[in-house]
Amino acid sequence: MSEHIAKLIIDNITYELPIIKGTSDDRAIDIQQLLKKTGLITLDSGYMNTGACTSSITYLDGKKGILNYRGYPIEDLAENCTFTEVAYLIIHGELPTSEAMESFKHDMVRFALLHEDMIHFFDSYPSTASPMSILSTTVNALHNYYPEMDDADDPYGGYTATAARLLSKTRTIAAFSYKKSVGHPLVYPSPKLDYCSNFLNMMFDRPNLPYEIMPEVVSALNKLLILHADHEQNCSTSTVRLVGSSGANLYASISAGVSALWGPMHGGANQAVIEMLENIYADDKDFEKYLAKAKDKNDPYRLTGFGHRVYKTFDPRARIIKEACDKIFEQLNVVDPLLDIAKELEERVSNDEYFLKRNLYPNVDFYSGIIYRAMGIPTNMFPVMFALGRMPGWIAQWTEMKEDRSRIGRPRQIYTGHAEREFVAMKDRY
Ligand code: SDX
Repeated sequence: MSEHIAKLIIDNITYELPIIKGTSDDRAIDIQQLLKKTGLITLDSGYMNTGACTSSITYLDGKKGILNYRGYPIEDLAENCTFTEVAYLIIHGELPTSEAMESFKHDMVRFALLHEDMIHFFDSYPSTASPMSILSTTVNALHNYYPEMDDADDPYGGYTATAARLLSKTRTIAAFSYKKSVGHPLVYPSPKLDYCSNFLNMMFDRPNLPYEIMPEVVSALNKLLILHADHEQNCSTSTVRLVGSSGANLYASISAGVSALWGPMHGGANQAVIEMLENIYADDKDFEKYLAKAKDKNDPYRLTGFGHRVYKTFDPRARIIKEACDKIFEQLNVVDPLLDIAKELEERVSNDEYFLKRNLYPNVDFYSGIIYRAMGIPTNMFPVMFALGRMPGWIAQWTEMKEDRSRIGRPRQIYTGHAEREFVAMKDRY
């Protein structure tokens, strides 16, 4: 892939480093031989300028607001596919034939249950336990009950089954954690329902109050999960790759990814957005107060749901989600003052020099929580919804890292502590 050469002059010596080019216009200076050639490393806190790998799964262009999964624009996939279909695409690299889809759906049904011993896990968590904490710990525990899932060539049909098992069981874990938190009896997955309908039914069906599965809600949930399905080397995906690069199993790697996603700077932002909108609403809609806080360098407060490491324009996912918001609110005849607050906040931000100068636009987390609210999903489960959506991406990225036989990830540092010094015994320290 080497197209050109970069020249680096250090101590009057010129070094040549290859420039590699990806499928589109993305290019990189390949520094894999830098230390060997020059004795120097690079320093890049937060990896703002550093590519960790090559990948054929997702392409995004932050300037143009483009996001493609395996070459397909998310706009087309969100409009025409189900989440399970897109999960298959991301994991296998091709859209499924109807036969392959039926087999994948069958695997999702086959593997939807949790080992009955695992149900006791939910009895041990307090009802106030964070659903992300439950998801991360319970996913890790899957290894003890399904060790064959670590082996992509397992007797149950290899990698496809492994992925289907993880996609299906995490959905069950999420719904069970909710039922336990509200003290309702668990609703088991139904073999007659598709991925999203099953999740909604497991979440909201009750013996005394049957849940009506509405096509509009199922369609909106499919769209939301599709839009979260992968996003190249973000914090949590990089975590999954890094943990997996040590040889840790798929569950442990994804459990670590769930933990990374939990942070309010990442997947926890969708929950933080709702809390921010509620605060603005409760604070007599004092938008200017919150905008001033977000711009005040002495205040750590940030306008959550805005800004992105890569997108310097409207996050293409946020655009689709905002449209879906309007549609589902109309279909369900829902009124939520937070949607109006969100739209007014977006409007004010879009006219504010501070945000425009820094290319701060709504990201995927800004409107997603408002739709989850309309579905009746509790705010503290919003990061879990993000994790369910991101599951195919994490599985595919982990597998690609394995197939590429990636070395163990081990960044270096520049040491700024004490120079070597003489040891002083305790009795001589004053
Ligand atoms: C996700 O990476 C991915 O792909 C993630 C994700 C995915 O699909 O996996 O897209 C999902 O995590 C979306 C982001 C969700 N997080 C939030 O909404 C939290 C709020 N946003 C920020 O904290 C921030 O924008 C980040 C974390 C998203 C990005 O941070 P960067 O790239 O490190 O940007 P930065 O901190 O260098 O900010 C640049 C400037 C700074 O000001 P100056 O120092 O230049 O004066 O913009 C300011 C920042 O202070 N800034 C904000 C801001 N975000 C950045 N100021 C106010 N409010 C904000 N939200």
